[in-house]
Amino acid sequence: MSEPVSPLDLTALEAVADAAEAAAAAATNLPELATERRRWTGDDSAIAHANRSIKALPGADKAQAGRNMGAVKQRVFAAFDQARTALEAKAESERLAEETVDVTLPTDRRRPGARHPLELLQERIADVFTAMGWTIAEGPELEAEWFNFDALNFGPDHPARQMQDTFFVNPPGSGLVMRTHTSPVQARVLLDQGVPCYVAVPGKVFRTDELDATHTPVFHQVEGLAVDKHLTMAHLRGTLDHLANAMFGAGVTTRLRPSFFPFTEPSAEMDLLCFICRGKDPQCRTCGGSGWIEWGGCGMVDPNVLMACGVDPHEYQGFAFGMGIERTLMFRNGVQDMRDMVEGDVRFSMNYGVGI
Ligand code: DAH
Repeated sequence: MSEPVSPLDLTALEAVADAAEAAAAAATNLPELATERRRWTGDDSAIAHANRSIKALPGADKAQAGRNMGAVKQRVFAAFDQARTALEAKAESERLAEETVDVTLPTDRRRPGARHPLELLQERIADVFTAMGWTIAEGPELEAEWFNFDALNFGPDHPARQMQDTFFVNPPGSGLVMRTHTSPVQARVLLDQGVPCYVAVPGKVFRTDELDATHTPVFHQVEGLAVDKHLTMAHLRGTLDHLANAMFGAGVTTRLRPSFFPFTEPSAEMDLLCFICRGKDPQCRTCGGSGWIEWGGCGMVDPNVLMACGVDPHEYQGFAFGMGIERTLMFRNGVQDMRDMVEGDVRFSMNYGVGI
């Protein structure tokens, strides 16, 4: 309860208004201002009391008292309104300052990884075969020499065994090698599952090559094996053309070129018409000017392989192929250097998206 002030005492009223203005200006935040406003203008304030006392004044004084009160109240309310506007603006700018995000601060959020394009491509290839009703098989990377060579009709003295590019496994005579191709899985599947069989085998293989732009000691192949009655080379050709279309698009041109593998007879290599020069540039760096690029080996399964796996070659025939996955990725996506595929830099993999 404040000192009563007469509505006719303009000097006293102005002193109240001065004090109210000072209080409004001194408030440092909105709740404090609300308290002060109640104190200076609320029911129990000097102004409210003075206002209420007007009706007890003699009639002749009422008009003057009313004018006095009006002037004082206007000053006081204006002072509080102005203070509120100022404090609201201050609160707003404080909140904005508090919410400011420093976009230059280092983040601790981990970047999402990406699956390796070779993995994605192997899955894509597997999908192509699954869609044709084939099954997907796999075999061990540390393989018995018998599966890697003998079962595939490499005689004991076949030069491919001694060739520099096989990783033999200690102790000497262990009979184990790091598989040099996915072809041993042909024999494993035939022995395990019998015939008829239609299997695709994507997987890792190993050769003692130095890593450079076009070689890597660890790479990938996809093996295919179909054994059934009445299979011919036309089925082989159709299957590989289908895979080529799925990998490189409908415009791809293929050819079979006679070749030799101990486990197929006849044997061939499948070449793709050069994507870059389409056979028209004798200086082309992609195909070496030949117009064709080698994609992989294939052929009709040699009867000796069928026999080694307990299949009667008079009743069953088959075709097989082995395509390089790195080569496929190179042709398909224009990768120039094999080292990009083995270094494991996530920025390389990110280019292929995180597709599934
Ligand atoms: N295994 C062979 C290699 O690595 C590729 C190959 C050729 C696989 C002919 C086959 C085939 O199945 O029939 O060079």
